[in-house]
Amino acid sequence: MTRGRFITFEGMDGCGKTTQLRILAANLRARGLSVTETVEPGGTEIGQQIRRILLDPAHTAIHARTELLLYFASRAQNVHQVILPALHSGGLVLCDRFTDSTLVYQGCGRGLDSATVLQLDAIACEGLRPDTTVLIDIDLETSLARARRRNERTDLSESRIDDESSHFHENVRAGYLALAAQEPERFILVDGRAGIAEVTHRIAEALQNRV
Ligand code: TYD
Repeated sequence: MTRGRFITFEGMDGCGKTTQLRILAANLRARGLSVTETVEPGGTEIGQQIRRILLDPAHTAIHARTELLLYFASRAQNVHQVILPALHSGGLVLCDRFTDSTLVYQGCGRGLDSATVLQLDAIACEGLRPDTTVLIDIDLETSLARARRRNERTDLSESRIDDESSHFHENVRAGYLALAAQEPERFILVDGRAGIAEVTHRIAEALQNRV
């Protein structure tokens, strides 16, 4: 099947992946490429509604399995409605978080079995896997400080996962680094403390070496 490339961005809260995704999208468009930007959870109107349920800090009663299914419900809609059509027409798709997030937040963070996560992935994503994943790594202190600053600036309606314990976030980080070590050909691992311009430069360089 001929299709465009699917690039995902991953990392802890506050790592800068959303900023870097936007910069990369703008740079690729400036070179005449067709680029679709999307986000998980969210990315579609239905996904946006699911996102609100997932990230509302008032929703403390959500069971870990309910949470897991909702992340995949949002993703199934996004894959079907946005991502696959764009790839089939030969475009580049940049996605802010994808199944690696579920493997590390629900798997390593909540302790759900990764085999279950991958089973749901097979159903929701129709076999779609990222060609390349940019992982922006930051330490826990940096992540917490940036997330706190952001939550002060914006409203607190999306802080349910941010509010998890340090132990949870340590597991998330370790999970990400383990995934990158398992699949070095898919992952581009970048130190997120290097400054925005430097991180942009390192990502561009790594992508150029791969394409
Ligand atoms: P996001 O808005 O990308 O947060 P940030 O901008 O801080 O990176 O994602 C919202 C939260 O959802 C984030 O804390 C990670 C969490 N999440 C999961 O727990 N599982 C998932 O599968 C995804 C996609 C996100």
